[in-house]
Amino acid sequence: MKIAVAKGDGIGPEIMEAVLKIFNAARVPLEYEFVDMGKWVFDKGFSNGMTPEAKHSIEELGILFKGPMETPKGKGVKSVNVTARKTWNTYANKRVFQTLHGVDTVFSKAGIPIDITIVRENIEDTYGGIEHMLTQDVALSRRFITRPGSLQVIKYAFEMAKKKGTRRITCAHKANIMKLTDGLFLECFHEVAKEYPDLRSDDIIVDDLAMKLVVRPQEFDVVVLTNLQGDIISDLCAGLVGGLGFAPSANIGDHIAIFEAVHGTAPDIAGKNIANPTALLLSGITMLRHLGFMQSASIIENALLFTLEQGIHTGDFGDKTTAPLNTSQFAEAIIGNFGKTPELGAKPVVKDMTPTPTAFKLTRNEMMVSDEMEKEVIFGVDLFIESAEQPETIARKCQRHAGVKFNLISISNRGTQVWPTGSVYTNLVNQYNARFESLDGMPLHQQDILGLYVSLSGDFKICSSELLNMWGGKKAYSLAQGQ
Ligand code: NAI
Repeated sequence: MKIAVAKGDGIGPEIMEAVLKIFNAARVPLEYEFVDMGKWVFDKGFSNGMTPEAKHSIEELGILFKGPMETPKGKGVKSVNVTARKTWNTYANKRVFQTLHGVDTVFSKAGIPIDITIVRENIEDTYGGIEHMLTQDVALSRRFITRPGSLQVIKYAFEMAKKKGTRRITCAHKANIMKLTDGLFLECFHEVAKEYPDLRSDDIIVDDLAMKLVVRPQEFDVVVLTNLQGDIISDLCAGLVGGLGFAPSANIGDHIAIFEAVHGTAPDIAGKNIANPTALLLSGITMLRHLGFMQSASIIENALLFTLEQGIHTGDFGDKTTAPLNTSQFAEAIIGNFGKTPELGAKPVVKDMTPTPTAFKLTRNEMMVSDEMEKEVIFGVDLFIESAEQPETIARKCQRHAGVKFNLISISNRGTQVWPTGSVYTNLVNQYNARFESLDGMPLHQQDILGLYVSLSGDFKICSSELLNMWGGKKAYSLAQGQ
């Protein structure tokens, strides 16, 4: 089986060389096609950070094993790491955080074992990076949470949890505040949970999770979250087990999967052969298991754990009173420990499975649409307007444009209602939301909305607008605070 390998920037080539040396010593049955991604590709003028040949190879091969890559600053280009995850729809970011002997933490010293798997949605949320300045004072980020996208990652998490023999699967969210976005994610979680009655599933508000992870991390097993919350919680978990240097990361999609270390290119130590290859090696081991190479994965993992247990370390961790090994020596030490069994976390050496086929050719983009759709009506519109006037003045002007079809329901500022009721103690910024609903409760047409838009634009700059939809008898929009 052939996979694409991108060595990356900074310490990338050094740690990749160490990992592939370990793979070769373990006779991992893989061939490598080296592809060009990262800094020098940006520098050559490829704005997505990868050559067309690299893109072609990765789409053909279906697996990318990559080192960290630098995003050039000040050039307006987007991170190639994020571009790769999004372009190839690797919707689930799986990160495993386990207590490792030889890596001292507050919890390992207290004898509290940690084994947490975070499954983070990897495509949606604010990571769409769809942002606009609505006025010179007001920035807006769009947060997309979709039903098909949520179902994809949640189904993956449940299936993975089942295979792992999980004690508990938990959905973390903020649905108490973001009732539609996080609410949709949570609803999908409960829907999927019904298909796995043997798994103990529950949900928790993400801030409560953060506190409990620090106080009693041993209570958690698999946790599934939306993108931004998952990003923050995964780094918190990395801290619980010794830092980013010990946290593998797999980005899983239906066609393409990307395995990488989560740390960066460490420019401060690049080229010195002193970087710690553990995180990339652990990601490589995850990749071997993903592909079905169980035997080599276990042999390498046991050797790594044994090496750590011996107190052998690179300069960034471990006992400061013993001399650190450099990157190549650390790799050699692991190779020397093939066949040894660690005291803690030893993996059974099981036979390889039939290798999972990697990418199969797609000829068109897949459309993900829910099977059943409710009948939908337009019930009103939110028009976001720029103004530094007082709410009463704005309401008077807006009412002049409501005509016979619309009723001005509410005016809010930063999500807090300031008209018809509100408080003079609410601070204002120069951007309001004027909410208009159908006057007689009858469905509206887009043309009605456009008529209102044109009329209101005589008085205000309209920065943005959102239709107010209803389906299944329910409002498909949130209410302003105090509305
Ligand atoms: P960083 O993770 O590269 O470095 C933070 C600190 O950790 C540094 O002191 C570094 O020496 C140390 N460190 C990181 N990995 C290490 C390892 N394997 N062994 C020993 N020490 C290690 O984070 P930073 O400095 O914020 O980012 C540097 C560059 O990396 C930036 O250009 C950034 O865009 C890129 N980056 C790439 C990522 C990726 O490819 N997935 C992820 C994060 C950052």
